[in-house]
Amino acid sequence: MPEFKTSPGTRDILAPDSGRWRAFQEVFAKTVEAAGYTLIIPPMFEDLDVFLRLGEATEVVTKEMYDFHDKGGRHVALRPEQTASVCRAFVEHRPTTPWKVWYAGPNFRYEKPQQGRYRQFDQVGIEALGTNDPFLDAEVIGLAAKFYSNLGLKRVKLAINTLGDGGDREKYAQKLLEYFSRHESSLTSESKATLARNPLRVLDSKREPDQEVIANAPAIRDTIGKEAGAHFESVLAALEAMNVSYEINNRLVRGLDYYRRTTFEFVSTALASAHTAIGGGGRYDGLVEALGGPATPGIGFALGLDRTLLACDAEGSFVAPKQAVEVFVVDTVDGSHAQTICNLLRENGVTADRAYDLRSMKAQMKAADRSGAAVALIIGEDEVQNSTIMLRPMNSGEQHSIARGDLVGEVMKALKK
Ligand code: HAM
Repeated sequence: MPEFKTSPGTRDILAPDSGRWRAFQEVFAKTVEAAGYTLIIPPMFEDLDVFLRLGEATEVVTKEMYDFHDKGGRHVALRPEQTASVCRAFVEHRPTTPWKVWYAGPNFRYEKPQQGRYRQFDQVGIEALGTNDPFLDAEVIGLAAKFYSNLGLKRVKLAINTLGDGGDREKYAQKLLEYFSRHESSLTSESKATLARNPLRVLDSKREPDQEVIANAPAIRDTIGKEAGAHFESVLAALEAMNVSYEINNRLVRGLDYYRRTTFEFVSTALASAHTAIGGGGRYDGLVEALGGPATPGIGFALGLDRTLLACDAEGSFVAPKQAVEVFVVDTVDGSHAQTICNLLRENGVTADRAYDLRSMKAQMKAADRSGAAVALIIGEDEVQNSTIMLRPMNSGEQHSIARGDLVGEVMKALKK
């Protein structure tokens, strides 16, 4: 028989980590629902064309897409991110604006798997469509910062930049092309190849030999128009009013081509690995139009769940919640008493588990121990005869007999509920 294992870049998330994932999404939901964002659940695959709007020069599109022809001959792709789907949904449903939504779920990119970088990875995120108001930029960025702090993370840095408007970006790309072409001999061969595809992306290179050329490259802020510049200043002022600390990073261009104006990234300084970007986002005015809708501004962010949890590990924050039932029932008679007792307790809001297969008292007590339950209820021949149950608090071991008719009340008392 072949030995089946998860495919490279994918993982099974088992308890207690799975409970941590769910708690993570719940904390996120609470954080953003407090600001009026509602849940959207887009499909995990769409027509390939939707994702091609992310930009033909984006690696996510050119190299990493999981695309295939389905049995009906449609060319579809697993989503590499969710912003494009949200914009497609906006065009399809035409909700009233501002439209503020949040999402959580897996995305797929054919990347080289390593610590903090997977082929299937989860994101939580928000998108807000329909307004250019700089207060919205500040709200979106502030919510990400608030969420990190709700997770107990302290070593998170926010880098922010503006990419100006559509035309500005192209002008800047041209300036960069000229600059990097002049210094091409000092660039690594990888960056030379990137230069031919997209000069902006050369700024992303982490390779040492490229760093000097990059450090002296022109900054986009000298290229952007008046309006975009004023917008950026207002965003920064609004962030300051909210006490959100930031660092301006003139080289921050981010990996997706749809960004305009405000762009930002959150980096964990607690992570030692190469992948320290735990979240990022920005404005994508123009994306809705590219998907066939009316000109509509938009802004949002997505946070990598997998990577953010690695940052939590590094900081010792947001530990996995304890997952244990409250009561474990040991029935050495015939198993039917465990069934009745468990059902009664569950109906009364007490979590309860039991042993199966009529194992020995010793084996069942071992299972009770392993379950982490606070209380064991033990029922043998004597207890059935006397209509009683033995109640044993697991931490003290001092058991006492209770009347079967008083079961729920006695258990509540023992659990201090
Ligand atoms: P992104 O920067 O491609 O942006 O991804 C956002 C976050 O997802 C990253 O900062 C990282 O934490 C996580 N991430 C990305 N790729 C991987 C991977 N292969 N393995 C693990 N984690 C990963 C977006 O996806 C945009 N849609 C964000 C956005 C929303 N912009 C505007 N609205």
